[in-house]
Amino acid sequence: MDQAELQSSGTMTALPEMEQLWMPFTANRQFKTAPRLLVGAQGMYYRSHDGREILDGTAGLWCVNAGHGRPEITQAIARQAQEMDYAPPFQMGHPLQFEAANLLAAIAPADLKKVFFTNSGSESVDSALKIALAYHRARGEGTRTLFIGRERGYHGVGFGGISVGGMVANRKVFRGSLLGNVDHLPHTYAPEHQSFSRGQPEWGAHLADDLERLVALHDASNIAAVIVEPVAGSTGVLVPPKGYLERLRTICDKYGILLIFDEVITGFGRMGTTFAAQYFNVTPDIITTAKAVNNAAVPMGAVFVRNGVYDTVVNGAPEGSVEFFHGYTYSGHPLAMAAAVATQQIYRRDRLLTRVQDDGIGAYWQEALHGLRDARHVKDLRNIGLIGGIELEPRPGAAGKRAFEAFVACYERGVLVRYTGDTIALSPPLIIERGQIDQIMSTLRDALRAVA
Ligand SMILES: Cc1ncc(COP(=O)(O)O)c(C=O)c1O
Repeated sequence: MDQAELQSSGTMTALPEMEQLWMPFTANRQFKTAPRLLVGAQGMYYRSHDGREILDGTAGLWCVNAGHGRPEITQAIARQAQEMDYAPPFQMGHPLQFEAANLLAAIAPADLKKVFFTNSGSESVDSALKIALAYHRARGEGTRTLFIGRERGYHGVGFGGISVGGMVANRKVFRGSLLGNVDHLPHTYAPEHQSFSRGQPEWGAHLADDLERLVALHDASNIAAVIVEPVAGSTGVLVPPKGYLERLRTICDKYGILLIFDEVITGFGRMGTTFAAQYFNVTPDIITTAKAVNNAAVPMGAVFVRNGVYDTVVNGAPEGSVEFFHGYTYSGHPLAMAAAVATQQIYRRDRLLTRVQDDGIGAYWQEALHGLRDARHVKDLRNIGLIGGIELEPRPGAAGKRAFEAFVACYERGVLVRYTGDTIALSPPLIIERGQIDQIMSTLRDALRAVA
């Protein structure tokens, strides 16, 4: 069918007027000349405005882990909207908030049993940084105000997040207004030692020792927290070398520094464990999450905090006073909570949080991804859990262009992938079947052949 036939057959959605919307992280002018609109979603598939099925290779944006259009979730949201649309979260509560926190605490690692609600990953990160400051102050070490992030880290777009983050494009325009008290560890990607790694690279644990150098430079008495993504996603799937996270933990313990894992993309089953902390067997002091916490059905984030950190902040304040001056109008929003409870029930009932390991999907994924080794333009392949990174040879003088064209070519062929720089990043819903994995890889092979 051509476009006219599609429109008259009712499967084509008319394009809206597009000039007024300023789209986020998008080449606005380019997009508006050749729009890609999604108008429906079910299970593993989106439906595009031109009436095509698009296999979702990215779980939306690393967030729809249970697949799209789960009736239990949409019905829970609808019921809650009718029952009570909104309740103020300051000095007031509603039962679902506590139910959601209890469900989440039950699956949290070790003693990270206190849960603070936000509306996004960026807010979770800013909340975590503030919790770290409040904690040190409450224990009489208020000089600990320095944060250590990592090059090539992504922690959202708040001023806290871009300050500890290490993505040049996200920082350079705002350089003069970043948090002043921040330093960075080196990133862990070294293709000369790690190319075509399956799972964790063997090389690179020693890169964590740079934290010793930063402690020597700034002095432990000034350092509040280290924040890293256990697996960095937004700069192209950087998998931590074996032993690296363990070493960060040891050094943080040695100097009383809090360790924050930003699990906004690795939380809720992406690794075949509930959190990456459990996969790597390293327990941080704070975990930031969002996205898959409620299958992305309503904006929501959650920060998990060790009991001892909560106790220090809360018990350190006078009885009857607000202990932590922080929160959002929509913290614990009833619709987000309804979605979270329904989502967590699905994860548990369908054993989705461990499916990547239990069903051998992760192993199948790894083999299928590495089958692209001889595909055109491929320079490196990386994977862990249900995450894949395909690094392309950049086109000379046009960084990122080839990956963008590959992304468009995949979309035209019915598969949604994501690109960052010259890396294609894959992170499908956890319900994916083997045949769909094959379809993603064969579409990529084909698209890469078509791209100059
Ligand atoms: C590791 C990490 N932290 C924070 C964020 C920011 O989340 P949000 O876009 O919900 O603010 C993201 C988003 O992808 C992320 O990957």
